[in-house]
Amino acid sequence: MTIGGVRLLTTVILALVGSGVAPAAPATPAAAAVSLASVVPAPVTATPATGVTYRVTAATAIYTEPGSPAVADVAGQLAAILRRSTGYPMPVVDASSPTPTDGIALLLSGAPASVGNEGYQLDVTTASIAVRANQPAGLFAGVQTLRQLLPPTVESATVQPGPWEVAGGRIVDHPRFAHRGAMLDVARHFLPVAVVKRYIDEIALYKVNRLHLHLSDDQGWRIAVNSWPNLAVYGGSTQVGGGTGGYYTQDEYRQIVAYAAARYVMVVPEIDMPGHTNAALASYAELNCDGVAPKLYTGTKVGFSSLCVSKELTYTFIDQVLGELAALTPGPYLHIGGDEASSTTAADYATFMNRAQQIVAGHGKSVVGWHDIVNAPVLPSTVAQYWGTTTSHAAVAAAAGNGIKIIMSPANRSYLDMKYNSRTRLGQRWAGFIEVQDAYGWDPGAYLSGVGETSVLGVEAPLWTETIETLADVEYMAFPRLPAIAELGWSPASTHDWTSFQQRLGAQGPRWRVMGINYYHSTQVSWPTGS
Ligand code: ACM
Repeated sequence: MTIGGVRLLTTVILALVGSGVAPAAPATPAAAAVSLASVVPAPVTATPATGVTYRVTAATAIYTEPGSPAVADVAGQLAAILRRSTGYPMPVVDASSPTPTDGIALLLSGAPASVGNEGYQLDVTTASIAVRANQPAGLFAGVQTLRQLLPPTVESATVQPGPWEVAGGRIVDHPRFAHRGAMLDVARHFLPVAVVKRYIDEIALYKVNRLHLHLSDDQGWRIAVNSWPNLAVYGGSTQVGGGTGGYYTQDEYRQIVAYAAARYVMVVPEIDMPGHTNAALASYAELNCDGVAPKLYTGTKVGFSSLCVSKELTYTFIDQVLGELAALTPGPYLHIGGDEASSTTAADYATFMNRAQQIVAGHGKSVVGWHDIVNAPVLPSTVAQYWGTTTSHAAVAAAAGNGIKIIMSPANRSYLDMKYNSRTRLGQRWAGFIEVQDAYGWDPGAYLSGVGETSVLGVEAPLWTETIETLADVEYMAFPRLPAIAELGWSPASTHDWTSFQQRLGAQGPRWRVMGINYYHSTQVSWPTGS
């Protein structure tokens, strides 16, 4: 569409406003616009333009990079949020040159090269908001920032009075680490597709770009596998505490992957092995060394199960399971667990992990494993996820020295299932209590001795679900610690500052209230009155 067409559309909208179809301008006085300095994760640079604000009105349109369906999709997501709460029409219009001088523009031109593939530049003037990036992922990230610069009520599902002002200035921003992850354990307690989608929305707001799904464990198998159907049908039929469990059909898994992809989140699926496999062993007697299937398990012990390393069928099994999962998963990684294999001898563990890595490579994917995997020979492409509670680990440091990339998930910092304190009803305490300041107060690039910045692929916040059953439980444990881990993954180390962080985090409270997020009101955070 031409710029003339754009103008025409704007004229139509103005006519609609004039005829009273759109809500009238609010009578309430303008509250101070949200400060550029309030964004989580902290941007690389934010330069306010004093006295300048942009006001979203019934005449505002969203102009998108010409000919880019991906950008139009990002714009559509922004428009949907704005339409719900502002009641304005928010047309999404292909912006042919010259660059639009009014409205909100999402453009794949004019961003500095330094923002890379996921960064963006956001300019707010009285006339327009321009988000510029090199890739659609950067525009998505810029839109998440813009959401935070609008009043919290912009997240409302119903029309609110406004006014919808954005403080003027420029933000230039890009991530510190490539991997900014969140993990959901859907095995201990099954979480339905709708919960997973909602969590994807919540993590994406904080520029988290990987969702690790822990799809199998002793207590349940949660993904349909056509070549081994009992895994899901029987192995998925219960969970911790003996509830009915559940599993994702392959079509549902594809839906999750697509929903995540539209929010620039890559799904990293995990089939944990050779331990944490009771659900599989219960589903197929022939997978057991003694040919006898154990009972389904609904407790919370770990370390008692193992695939049969000496049986060739075991490798046929993992080849077929991982083959189906690889075909369903567009991202480059398959996570094969490898943690707490206490019922597998060290020699068997090495034999098994060696073959499992080859099998994953045979399906064109790279392995992620819990850091225990460095006890076996690792392929150069294998990524190790550190989940220990100490700041030194000789074998992980040696692997990093050999070029292995590390995802940092120290259990006493990033595990979202740890209790905040002794009074927290949900969660575990084996790695200690994790208050917000503990979750925030470490540097992923300098935490583990011998594992420096360049060895760190990123950070991840796992949420294990032994005690977690509902969306409300998930949210209570993730908020506000997930945004803390997200900031460690995105923001430059130079912005790290607890005082600033807890104030910016507090400013998210009113937003979470509007969104219905069940968050923990940590006394360490300055929450605004009423949030
Ligand atoms: C783990 O917490 N067992 C990775």
